[in-house]
Amino acid sequence: MPMSLDSTLTPSTPATATATAAGAAAPAFNLIRPQPYTEWAPQLDAGTKAGLRRELEQGAVLFFPQLRFQFEPGEERFLDSRWSDGKSKNINLRANDQAVRGATGGEQDLKDLYVLIRRYAEYSEKLVLSLFPEYGPHMVRAGTSLRPSEIAGRPVSWRKDDTRLHVDAFPSNPMLGQRLLRVFHNIDPQAPRVWRVGEPFGDFAKRFVPKTKGMWPGQARVMEMLHITKRRRSEYDHRMLQLHDLAKADLEYQANVPQQEFQFPPGSTWIVFSDQVLHAAMRGRAMMEQTYYLSPKAISDHTHSPEAVLARMLGRPMVVG
Ligand SMILES: [Fe+2]
Repeated sequence: MPMSLDSTLTPSTPATATATAAGAAAPAFNLIRPQPYTEWAPQLDAGTKAGLRRELEQGAVLFFPQLRFQFEPGEERFLDSRWSDGKSKNINLRANDQAVRGATGGEQDLKDLYVLIRRYAEYSEKLVLSLFPEYGPHMVRAGTSLRPSEIAGRPVSWRKDDTRLHVDAFPSNPMLGQRLLRVFHNIDPQAPRVWRVGEPFGDFAKRFVPKTKGMWPGQARVMEMLHITKRRRSEYDHRMLQLHDLAKADLEYQANVPQQEFQFPPGSTWIVFSDQVLHAAMRGRAMMEQTYYLSPKAISDHTHSPEAVLARMLGRPMVVG
C-alpha cells in the first residue's frame, strides 16, 4: 500500500522535506508522496490506483525512491555532458523518431543513445499505464530526454532559468488545455537531484492571475500565421505563459513563497503534472524524463487542474472550440 493514500494536500508536516530556501516561509505542506514500488509495472488494486490518481490530480509529486532504471553494460558512458551537442539543453527523442536529437558522437554511440532513451520511454509508459490505466486512451507520448549536464551555474536568461519556481508552459507550442504529465528519473549514481516545490496551483493562481492579460483580437491568428506558434494559441496558453513568466521574474516571490526543498536520490523516479506543480530544478547532474500529453477528458477531478482554476477565476472557459 502506498504510504500516502489517505493524505491530501492539506497542511502536513514536511517529513521528507530537507530544507527551505533561505528566507522562505516554513513550508505549510508537503507535496512529496513516497511510494514503495520497485517495479515499472506494479500490480495494484483498484483502490490503490484511484488513490494515486487522486493525489496526482490534486498536485502531489508521486515519488518512487526505489524505482531504478538500470543501465545496460557500457551505457554509463552517457553520463557525461560531452554527448550533448552544446546547442540543446537535452538529448531528446521524439515519439516517432528513430534517432536522437541534440547529441554528438559516432554512429554507434548515437544508436546506443537511441536504445537507452527509447528503453526509458517504454519503462515510463509501463509505469504510467500500470498506475493510471484510465489515462491510456487519452494519452500521447511526447518527448523523452536525457539531460547529462549539471543544472547549477548554467548561464541562462531569467525566462529560461528553471532554478526559479515555475509551471511549465510553452511559447510556441500551444497545449490547448492538454495536460503535461512527466516521469523523471535521477540517473546519476551519486548526486541527488534537488528540487524546490512551491505552493499549490490555486494559491499561485490567486496571486498572479489578476496580473495577466487576455489576447488582443486577432492575436492568436496572427501569431499562427507568422509561425510564432505551431497552432492557434488559446487563452489558456496565453495566461499560463504569463504565469510562468510572472513567477520567474518575481524574486521576492521566489524567495518567500511557501515552498519545500527536496532531494531526489540517485536511482529514484517521480511523476508530476508539471503544468500544475510549481517546481524549480536546483542541482543535479543527470536526469531522464518522459513527457506525455494528456487530454483533459482523462482527468477525474478537475478541481485543481490549471484550466479549471483559471476558468473559475476568469468566469469563462479558457479553451474554446
Ligand atoms: Fe519545468
